[in-house]
Amino acid sequence: MKILVIHGPNLNLLGKREPEIYGKTTLEEINSLIRKEAKALRVQVESFQSNSEGEIVSKIQDATKRYDGLIINPAAYTHTSVAIRDAISSTGIPTVEVHISNVYRREEFRQKSFISPVASGVISGFGVYSYILGLRGLVSQLKKSNYSVPH
Ligand code: DQA
Repeated sequence: MKILVIHGPNLNLLGKREPEIYGKTTLEEINSLIRKEAKALRVQVESFQSNSEGEIVSKIQDATKRYDGLIINPAAYTHTSVAIRDAISSTGIPTVEVHISNVYRREEFRQKSFISPVASGVISGFGVYSYILGLRGLVSQLKKSNYSVPH
């Protein structure tokens, strides 16, 4: 089983960026925690970060037939991107949306997600542990035979 983790804009700055909200763990450290968990779950994982909406859309399109599932923290694009949402729907690959912070207790504009309606699950507010919970949830969904994303 192969899983792609996509990190959206500004997440390359984790560790330095608003640590009171996002913590002090760097993206590299998060990726290493994800790899460790993937090993324990006996799945393969790859990580990708981009600040560009178009690159993220292309990466999701390319994921078809290459990956069984996606974990995405779309960061600010969560609240704006019809393009990323359409890419996820088009591939039909089960996708879990994750957020480090609890977006529902923050500014009102963060409480709208374009991605959630096409996600197979959403995890928000557990710090870097959101990624681990997302990975466990996705693997458990994928292990159920004939799992498909509800639309
Ligand atoms: C975030 C929440 C988004 O609102 C914000 O734009 C981010 C990070 C999170 O992980 O908590 O960049 O996705």
